[in-house]
Amino acid sequence: MTTAIAYTQLGGPEVLQQITIADPVPGPGEVAVHVAAVGVNPIEAKLRSGARPSAPITEPRRLGADGAGVVTAVGEGVDGFRPGDPVVFAGASGAYASDLVVAASRVFARPAQVSAAQGAALGIPVGTAYQTLRSLGVGAGDTLLVHGGSGAVGAALIQFAVLWGAAVVATSSERRSERVRALGATPVRYGDGLADRVRAAAPRGITVAIDAAGTDEALQTSLELVADHERIATLVRGRDAAGLGIRAFSGGSPEPLTAQQQAWRTEAVPVALALMAADRFTVELGPSFALADAADAHRAVEEGVDGKITLVP
Ligand SMILES: NC(=O)c1ccc[n+]([C@@H]2O[C@H](COP(=O)([O-])OP(=O)(O)OC[C@H]3O[C@@H](n4cnc5c(N)ncnc54)[C@H](OP(=O)(O)O)[C@@H]3O)[C@@H](O)[C@H]2O)c1
Repeated sequence: MTTAIAYTQLGGPEVLQQITIADPVPGPGEVAVHVAAVGVNPIEAKLRSGARPSAPITEPRRLGADGAGVVTAVGEGVDGFRPGDPVVFAGASGAYASDLVVAASRVFARPAQVSAAQGAALGIPVGTAYQTLRSLGVGAGDTLLVHGGSGAVGAALIQFAVLWGAAVVATSSERRSERVRALGATPVRYGDGLADRVRAAAPRGITVAIDAAGTDEALQTSLELVADHERIATLVRGRDAAGLGIRAFSGGSPEPLTAQQQAWRTEAVPVALALMAADRFTVELGPSFALADAADAHRAVEEGVDGKITLVP
């Protein structure tokens, strides 16, 4: 039998309940995975609480998108995976589970250098970062401002942008500035006076800005410092983007992602895995919780902790 986490009403972390269901069987084009680690993303807590609107709940609602594990079976027409293969998956449905079926297109071989927890940390944050940088055309000649550079999305934004030749200034708390520096960005503390500190850190100016923090300060600072507002994006305040004349990718935006943007999000995971195998990309792991303690994991994500929270079924 498979254990999974589901909720039947919106609310605090306590609405998350463990359920037991039949083992999933892979259909055509699908892979069955015995899950070793699940990445916990802020969006999952927002959907659970209702902070991010979703369709009415009519049956137990599963959650989770990203994880890693071992292939247990493959469906018809799947080439390239065999039972026993260590894999990472992203963009799955109901990943808070011991066993899961995932479309083969969202499953990737896990290199020996990448742990299950590291692999589970990739999907949403790394896909979002990669797609956003591609959408904004960030590369050599740019100076990118990242709001929230010490977080999961911010760290991926910094690393890809630096690899692609951009200079990066990134905000964090004072406490986390060394993490930002180690990733290759110039750290700047968020809070009063942010715009002046960014100007001092980037005397030749900021050409592009990405908000993974969601504060008024982040949005206002970007508007003040970036001349071309088409090169400002928020990943958190999607509902406010049109009114501000900036771009948004998910994060509450009424505009769905395009097929190209979705393809970039998926492409990011094997790109990051290859870079990790070559020691050129890192993810920071935070606390790990048993699957049955998913409510505690959500409390932690809501409080804010350093590093990616994972669940272990
Ligand atoms: N649009 C999308 O598709 C998409 C995808 C993924 C995530 N997101 C959203 O992006 C946000 C970040 O996600 P994440 O996974 O990176 O979260 P995370 O790992 O928890 O990181 C949160 C970041 O916010 C920073 N922060 C906290 N308080 C701040 C403040 N007052 N001013 C500026 N920065 C502050 C933190 O810095 P310190 O720790 O240094 O304080 C940290 O860098 C979340 O809201 C998430 O829902 C959107």
